[in-house]
Amino acid sequence: MDNNIKYVMYGAEEIERKVKEIARQISHDYQGKEVLLVCVLKGSIIFTADLLRYISVPVKMDTIAVSSYGNATESSGVVRLLKDLDEAIKDVHVLIVEDIIDSGLTLEYLINMLKQRQPASVKVCALLDKRERRKNNIIADYTGFIIPNEFVIGYGMDYNEDYRQLPYIGVLKPEVYQ
Ligand code: PRP
Repeated sequence: MDNNIKYVMYGAEEIERKVKEIARQISHDYQGKEVLLVCVLKGSIIFTADLLRYISVPVKMDTIAVSSYGNATESSGVVRLLKDLDEAIKDVHVLIVEDIIDSGLTLEYLINMLKQRQPASVKVCALLDKRERRKNNIIADYTGFIIPNEFVIGYGMDYNEDYRQLPYIGVLKPEVYQ
């Protein structure tokens, strides 16, 4: 294991079980509909890719990129659109896929922006939820794990663009980023 990892919070198998469970719920809830997964780059790419393969109703995906952290470990509160969706979402069932919700400011911005485009629905799926850090009342419709306020990396999540490739979700030693 990498020397900078304090401990493994969720191993690959536990993540896989949880992603399958969420995909089952989504497939049940969207029965008879088509769902568009909106992958919020870059942290959500691995979660989205796995979810996509386990969902059994018709599914499409698109990507959007926003910036909230930059290289810092704390959310700046400023959300900037870096890349918009490729396609229009009018009358589409949109499911925003996030690796993690922290302050909730990114999602508040995204939900408000996407709702203006007259989608059939907008819901949120988040693998991790640092609920104690929330600055608004955003709650995902599908949540994997509620986690404590620790700096997590792996399974798509980074510190300074490193660690995204790890198959597990780990906690970074504070001395790495302090
Ligand atoms: C993370 C995460 C969310 C956002 C959550 O992205 O993927 O999009 O921060 O934080 P918030 O709830 O405080 O708004 P990040 O900015 O680290 O970019 P990345 O996914 O490209 O690594």
